[in-house]
Amino acid sequence: SDTVALIVAAGKGERAGGDVPKQFQLLGRVPLVEHARRAFAGHPAIQSVLTVVAPSQEASVMGASVAGGETRRESVRNGLEAIAATGGAARVLIHDAARPTIPKAIVDRLLEALDNARGAVPVLPVADTLVRGGVRIGDVIDRSTLARVQTPQAFDFAAILAAHRAWPEGEEATDDAQILRRAGYDVVSVVGDPLLDKITYPGDLALAEARLEASMR
Ligand code: CTP
Ligand code: MG
Repeated sequence: SDTVALIVAAGKGERAGGDVPKQFQLLGRVPLVEHARRAFAGHPAIQSVLTVVAPSQEASVMGASVAGGETRRESVRNGLEAIAATGGAARVLIHDAARPTIPKAIVDRLLEALDNARGAVPVLPVADTLVRGGVRIGDVIDRSTLARVQTPQAFDFAAILAAHRAWPEGEEATDDAQILRRAGYDVVSVVGDPLLDKITYPGDLALAEARLEASMR
């Protein structure tokens, strides 16, 4: 049964800034999105990789691509529909191009967890104290009950496709696990990895670059 990786790379990267959207900025001379594509293409359990990009950026990515939408949710939907139109898949890993480093063990854990669930996501505990925000901060929120959700997120393909189709237009979702849950399915967690943290703000890429250089010494 085949497993497809779907990389979403159609965002504008407004918070990170720069001359080109963050997913096309270079980490060790290679664009972020290409790091992710290679990681999936090199995994023995993954048969194909599809990248969702803005129509104007289609020439900037290697391999198969499809046009993205106005929001991340719409970009994922476009990718899922493209996979469905070409025969579907058994499983799909949905991933942010803004997370360039994908440990093989994470993919292994996610696919193993999918044996007993329709969805699996990597999560990490929250390290900082959490409060309600504001000029004067508000109450502390008990972080021991919370988790940070990363990508890749692994799904039974038919279930996540149906969940996306059932999602109300006009409402947004920042990841796909919440879309699967809304459709009534359980999503299980596996232990995430700090290497999967997202490039979001100016400076995140420089930190990733420093980490990459340190790992090569
Ligand atoms: N994404 C997408 N299509 C969109 C919006 C986001 O494919 N319309 C992708 C981004 O390219 C990124 C991932 O979703 O790989 C996670 O989104 P985020 O980190 O928010 O990226 P951007 O939306 O590009 O950044 P920002 O919100 O700062 O503008
Ligand atoms: Mg965004």
